[in-house]
Amino acid sequence: MILVTGGTGFIGSHTCVELLNAGYEVVVIDNLSNSKVDSLDAVKKITGKSCLFYKVDINDENGLREVFKKHKFECVIHFAGLKAVGESVEKPHWYYSNNISGTLTLLKVMAEFNVKSIVFSSSATVYGCDNQSPLTEDMRTSATNPYGWTKVMQEQILSDIAFADSDMRVALLRYFNPIGAHPSGLIGENPNGIPNNLLPYVCLVAVGKLPHLNVFGDDYDTIDGSGVRDYIHVVDLAKGHLAAMRYLADHAGVLTVNLGTGNGYSVLQVVEAYKKASGKEIPVNISPRRPGDVASNFADASKAKKLLNWSAELDINDMCRDAWNFASKNM
Ligand code: NAD
Ligand code: UFG
Repeated sequence: MILVTGGTGFIGSHTCVELLNAGYEVVVIDNLSNSKVDSLDAVKKITGKSCLFYKVDINDENGLREVFKKHKFECVIHFAGLKAVGESVEKPHWYYSNNISGTLTLLKVMAEFNVKSIVFSSSATVYGCDNQSPLTEDMRTSATNPYGWTKVMQEQILSDIAFADSDMRVALLRYFNPIGAHPSGLIGENPNGIPNNLLPYVCLVAVGKLPHLNVFGDDYDTIDGSGVRDYIHVVDLAKGHLAAMRYLADHAGVLTVNLGTGNGYSVLQVVEAYKKASGKEIPVNISPRRPGDVASNFADASKAKKLLNWSAELDINDMCRDAWNFASKNM
């Protein structure tokens, strides 16, 4: 039995699909602050199997205890957290409290119930802005905003706990830029309000709900001047969690690993791929650089391949096709 925190969210719901397809029993907890429980109905439609769901906040120690009393978990996959960079700058207290206290509470209850294995959603944001791509796991970590610091700090907390207890098994998965959607079009990313991230924004332009994309900078030292990122299909990313979980079954200690493709694409290249996938025009306006952005950010993906025997299988055209399929049905 696997506990998935934040399992009704974007990456969590895709991971539930992969877990159920692989034959695991899944319990999801989520406070539904950034998702709807309907996503688990979609997961059921896709897989023909159900997850058990409890509406519980990870800061609610007694609520967590009730769930741990009912089920014996072999591993926790921990997605629950707030993730908007700009919001974290405006409301740092909320981010530190929700993400860090929440994780500490979860770890406390895991310890009480002798659950020793955790797969954690970290982010390439922990590479800060001083490292050169391709980014390798041994590089120094830092952050440029409170959201990023919550990831750096949670990595530290989890590592210290594993150091103190040699039975602990911790996977720190540093995601690059997850995009796309399940090919069924039943689950995907549909944020509230005006999106901050590139792909949801492009999707809203494609469905006609926003007039154009603002391209944040065309004067970076990149292939065409626009920012380069390592986009990864959310289904590939979800599969990476199963690979990490299987690795932990045989290895105590801390695994830190990038989940990216190892390939960078510029904003303008993504727009071209999306136009091709959707057949829609995506008007662009070249705008000033966005503060805090780096020119280029992509993974060295070789450690995941070597240790987990996992690598991304889907390319940028697959990502845009599935993002458009989801957007055209749901946005
Ligand atoms: P998401 O917002 O769709 O999913 C997070 C889920 O956690 C939501 O369903 C939300 O309701 C839930 N949640 C938040 N706080 C909670 C709390 N206190 N108790 C219980 N549930 C809570 O986001 P996502 O894109 O699926 O991201 C999942 C994880 O991956 C997050 O930790 C995020 O920081 C990390 N991550 C995401 C990206 C990305 O670009 N999407 C990149 C790197 C890392
Ligand atoms: N971009 C635009 N226009 C937009 C939105 C984005 O040109 O409207 C550009 C950005 O400048 C950047 C690229 O598209 O060059 C990707 O931007 P995203 O906001 O989609 O992604 P980021 O790489 O900035 O941020 C993501 C996650 C963060 C995480 C970070 C580092 O959203 O949570 O990766 O891993 F911290």
